[in-house]
Amino acid sequence: MSASVLTAVAWPYANGPRHIGHVSGFGVPSDVFSRYQRMAGNQVLMVSGTDEHGTPISVQAEKEGMTTRQLADKYNRVIAEDLQGLGLSYDLFTRTTTGNHYAVVQQLFLALHRNGYVLPKTTTGAISPSTGRTLPDRYIEGTCPICGYDGARGDQCDNCGNQLDPADLINPVSRINGEKPQFVETEHLFLDLPAFTESLGEWLSTRTDWRPNVLKFAQNLVEDMRPRAISRDLDWGVPIPLDGWRDQPMKRFYVWFDAVIGYLSASVEWARRTGDADAWKQYWTDPSAKGYYFMGKDNITFHAQIWPTLLMGHNGQGDKGGEPGPFGTLNLPDEIVSSEFLTMSGSKFSTSRGTVIYVRDFLREFGPDTLRYFISVAGPENQDTDFTWDEFVRRTNFELANEWGNLVNRSISMAAKNNGAVPAPTAPKAADEELKALSRNAFGTVGGHLERSRFKAAAQEAMRVVSAANKYLSDQEPWKLKDDPDRRDAVLHTALQVVSDANTLLTPFLPHSAQKVHELLGGTGVWSAQPEIREVADLDDESIEYPVLMGEYAAEQAAWRSTDIEVGRPLNKPSPLFAKLDPKLGETGPEWAPIES
Ligand code: MF3
Ligand code: ZN
Repeated sequence: MSASVLTAVAWPYANGPRHIGHVSGFGVPSDVFSRYQRMAGNQVLMVSGTDEHGTPISVQAEKEGMTTRQLADKYNRVIAEDLQGLGLSYDLFTRTTTGNHYAVVQQLFLALHRNGYVLPKTTTGAISPSTGRTLPDRYIEGTCPICGYDGARGDQCDNCGNQLDPADLINPVSRINGEKPQFVETEHLFLDLPAFTESLGEWLSTRTDWRPNVLKFAQNLVEDMRPRAISRDLDWGVPIPLDGWRDQPMKRFYVWFDAVIGYLSASVEWARRTGDADAWKQYWTDPSAKGYYFMGKDNITFHAQIWPTLLMGHNGQGDKGGEPGPFGTLNLPDEIVSSEFLTMSGSKFSTSRGTVIYVRDFLREFGPDTLRYFISVAGPENQDTDFTWDEFVRRTNFELANEWGNLVNRSISMAAKNNGAVPAPTAPKAADEELKALSRNAFGTVGGHLERSRFKAAAQEAMRVVSAANKYLSDQEPWKLKDDPDRRDAVLHTALQVVSDANTLLTPFLPHSAQKVHELLGGTGVWSAQPEIREVADLDDESIEYPVLMGEYAAEQAAWRSTDIEVGRPLNKPSPLFAKLDPKLGETGPEWAPIES
């Protein structure tokens, strides 16, 4: 039976191009998962967009001498291009500055508010005396009142790990311009988290299939639920639709509050764009639909605690009860798939430290599938993992070029040379049947791993089929069977069948090369579909245009099963699938990201 699967992918900040650390967290895993689900016959809705509000964008805009809107426009496009180049098959990749997003955020908020889960409170906030702008906690620095550490941030001390209030710092200064902040009283809206302690705790206790680290982290959060501010003193964000707030230019929703609601708003936008405005409901209010959320580990709080409570509040499912809001009873996440960090020489990938490899540069030189493969098989799935050029060269040369590329190449070349077409299996033997059984059975094993987002295990199992096929060819030596063409045909037929199977098994990881192998085997049409950049008008304001990623994925032929190859299909001599990299690259790195010695 076909299931409805929502793939909700974390929204990248529109404050710069993406580096390979970013896409190893939210990008490649979510796409491998979605491609597999589609191939398995399920209906998939994969949504995300750029996260364009809040301080990270304002600060970067100032650095680049642009308005926040200009900066968001610039990086929305750059990021859409990065993700398209990697072949991430979003049904919709949009942005948080659309009329549709604003409306959905405000509607969801009003339901929360009506149900009693929003509390106004007066707090102390810091502002910059020279600009009059609010200084967010983490942009204030000073001496820790607990341990005396000099570089403590307003929100926490990295030395002793304690949570701080910026007003407690000794000698607080702004990290933006070094001036002393001024502390003023300010009114904010808070999400009543304590009212969800019980319902969140109960719900988490049923999440037995989550990755243990994520579950443990979320359960710890339930121990200490305090009201959390969902508004900010900022002029860049979604306006608050309440009397007394609506017209205040310096009161906006907190960026994380609007961003997580993006999963819902992007689904609604997708539905509106596809001509059936209710189509999103299949993924959100049908209780049998499944929702999988993909992100880096620094996003767990917002997906395992804040987003579920917003959904419960909208649905009227916290301590204060209430009625479901305008979207009906929304599904809570089924799974939070969080990755650890991709590091470089042990430290977190970051632009500020200069250790950065941009997706764009990477794609230009090495193409998308080598990076997709590396992240899947050697990425930070369960622990922080160092990216090294050496390991990248090794994986590309030995696994993709020598093992997979070579199997494709020699199988098809031999058949093309000897038969010019897919030969008939006239004299099959036990070894042939054994190999074919191995590859047929791999669909269950690899698929089982992919369903659980175990990408490393899945890729390794798929590559076992490739190794077995290479060994089979070495054992059977079809090149020595000139005098026994029947047997040679049977061996080549088997090899081609297993190339076809392995290609299917590898399609979620290597969708671009999979299309090529499909054609090398004589196939036509779209095997694995790719996202396209489309220029669209804002659904609520035609004067605004922006690029989105969408695609015709339903039309692709790739299906999660062994498909019998067609005897007699013409074959041509193939060109190599993967270029071998110069081993020197492992020592030096590429010119645009040299290894520092
Ligand atoms: N922009 C955030 C980050 O890059 C992620 C936002 S995910 C969402 O860390 F759920 F809020 F959308
Ligand atoms: Zn401290």
